[in-house]
Amino acid sequence: MAKYDMFTVMFVMNVVLSGWMHGAVDSLRMDYYILACPVADLIIKNTVNRHLQKDPTLAASLVRMHFHDCFIQGCDASVLIDSTKDNTAEKDSPANLSLRGYEVIDDAKDELERQCPGVVSCADIVAMAARDAVFFAGGPYYEIPKGRKDGRRSRIEDTINLPFPTLNSSELIATFGRRGFTAQEMVVLSGAHTLGVARCASFKHRLSNFDDTHDVDPTIDNQFGKTLLKTCGAGDAAEQPFDSTRNSFDNDYFSAVQRRSGVLFSDQTLYASAATRGMVNNYAMNQAMFFLHFQQAMVKMGRLDVKEGSQGEVRQNCRVVN
Ligand code: HEM
Repeated sequence: MAKYDMFTVMFVMNVVLSGWMHGAVDSLRMDYYILACPVADLIIKNTVNRHLQKDPTLAASLVRMHFHDCFIQGCDASVLIDSTKDNTAEKDSPANLSLRGYEVIDDAKDELERQCPGVVSCADIVAMAARDAVFFAGGPYYEIPKGRKDGRRSRIEDTINLPFPTLNSSELIATFGRRGFTAQEMVVLSGAHTLGVARCASFKHRLSNFDDTHDVDPTIDNQFGKTLLKTCGAGDAAEQPFDSTRNSFDNDYFSAVQRRSGVLFSDQTLYASAATRGMVNNYAMNQAMFFLHFQQAMVKMGRLDVKEGSQGEVRQNCRVVN
């Protein structure tokens, strides 16, 4: 028995060490900053809360920023890097032009650099800020593992891999599936659209010349179609809230989609398609289930292609590679 135990210990050590040598060990940890920067969580939470008290609409932007970061090059803060004369960065892509909240991350980083220089990565700040924004807006609080390193690449062309609002349910399932998410996780993550707005430019294709047989997208409720048209009367940049409580994290988004009042085609398709309709109905009926599944899916999203060790760095300034 003792021999067996020794063999087991050696086998496990071998697996762990070879994984470490090949950079395959997942080094994210809940207590990653406990020794080097125990105030990290507090500084980020206070900074986020201070900004959101002044402008609650920033909660939506911080959640979206984390999504756009993780889906391109993994959760490595590549979305924060500024363009230079030789490189147009992700943030200048059309898909990212309406992202806001960079100043929240900068403020948190400045304070963290004062308290514990060179320790807390911008990628972790983005992930924690999104978490704190969800909670500030009335959503669930969830612990996230930390230790993401910041990436050194940020290129506009990579953002082609962000999902388009013109995708239908099966295309969304495939897009998220390629990154390891189930259809259910895709639907629950779309529930982030309980916060914030879309601009007319993102949904006007539904309102005229929709397809060969329809002028207007037939999945839109008639009355809501008029609302969208009215919004677009003010131009491409005019904002339409996703649901009636744009700054509250709740399950109203799913109720809106049930009423055929989803703003984006990619929202309404979740109800139009039999593959995902049941999930929309469940989350519209059961907010607690939405909260639970959302937090699990966000933790999973926060692990996407994370850079560890020498694959990345801790940036001094979130906008510039060291
Ligand atoms: C399922 C595929 C998705 C598509 C096609 C999509 C597309 C979009 C589009 C087009 C907008 C409006 C942009 C604008 O007009 O300015 C938007 C806004 C937003 N998205 Fe998504 N999104 C998706 C999934 C997600 C996910 C997974 C999250 C976060 C977990 C998210 C969070 C948000 C938030 C919070 C906003 C509002 C931003 C604000 O008001 O500043 N989205 N999304």
